[in-house]
Amino acid sequence: MSRLKDICIDCADPWTLAQWWAPVLGYRVRPHTADDLLALAEEGITRPEDDPSIAVDPVDERGPTFWFNKVPEPKPGKNRVHIDVYGDVDQLVGRGARVLDRQERWTVPRRSGGQRVLRVPVAGRLTVAAYEIRDAVVGDADAMGRLHVRAWQYAYRGVMPDEYLDSLKAQDRADMWRGRIARTDLPPILVAVIDDVAVGFATYGVEQPAGSTGCGQLYAMNVEPDQWGKGIGRALLRASTAALTAMGFEEAVLWVVPENSRARALYESEGWVADGRVTTEDILGVTVTDMCLRRPLDAGAAQGGP
Ligand SMILES: CC(C)(COP(=O)(O)OP(=O)(O)OC[C@H]1O[C@@H](n2cnc3c(N)ncnc32)[C@H](O)[C@@H]1OP(=O)(O)O)[C@@H](O)C(=O)NCCC(=O)NCCS
Repeated sequence: MSRLKDICIDCADPWTLAQWWAPVLGYRVRPHTADDLLALAEEGITRPEDDPSIAVDPVDERGPTFWFNKVPEPKPGKNRVHIDVYGDVDQLVGRGARVLDRQERWTVPRRSGGQRVLRVPVAGRLTVAAYEIRDAVVGDADAMGRLHVRAWQYAYRGVMPDEYLDSLKAQDRADMWRGRIARTDLPPILVAVIDDVAVGFATYGVEQPAGSTGCGQLYAMNVEPDQWGKGIGRALLRASTAALTAMGFEEAVLWVVPENSRARALYESEGWVADGRVTTEDILGVTVTDMCLRRPLDAGAAQGGP
């Protein structure tokens, strides 16, 4: 633990949480220096209480700093905890982690120095279960079928009829994906794999029906529910938009069920916005709505992310 530097907690009200936790931890809220206040003022923030990143430090002892960071999206049932460790990326890699992406702005608090961050899904006590993204092969189809059905049953319960969701068969979906993976005339499917087992996938290509608005389209994205919230969906989404950009599309669309708040939060944080189009379909007598989201794909487009 001696190398543990920061514990970052994303929340809606950093000041209040920091004030509450400091005495509980035996820590103190880090006072704002004149320079801090000046930097805040440059961002139009006049009161330290409105600072979106509040640090809580140990008093007279070693230990990690707690950062309470304001995040834009509502987080009803979820606080993310980032664990930042002093520059031992190589050590983690040596213990089996893979570097998925390096981005200074992902998890480093604004004023903590701009270190590079290794982002890995962490299970338990730094047991690293890293995923990688690659093109699907036919051998992935069974796992894709299983996770597809499970993702739908978790995401659409209460939106689509139980009778329909319970009737979905992993084998049917696996057969469908096996056939689709074998098609070499279509863009490859992207899979996220852990220990070479598919835990998520995304498909994309030209907007369907063909010729509608000439955009690219994200057709489908699903992640195994046991792996939700670890960044796999975002990584698949970014890989898909990068692939669509590489195919020459300048814009992309996708369709999402409005009640699917998890997916919508992800898309909105990556710069997708509603274009006003909606469609409905009847599933066993229940009307299910889809709304269209759209985003530009130029290199400078919003990448979102925490
Ligand atoms: C949508 C889906 C692909 C997201 O996958 P995921 O691996 O959980 O996504 P991530 O871990 O990358 O999370 C990305 C974002 O989703 C949102 N999100 C995650 N958990 C959430 C929750 N409990 N509540 C609200 N939003 C949540 C957040 O914006 C999150 O970003 P953050 O972690 O930076 O806060 C996955 O939930 C899924 O397979 N759902 C079922 C199928 C589906 O809905 N597909 C999309 C159809 S259009």
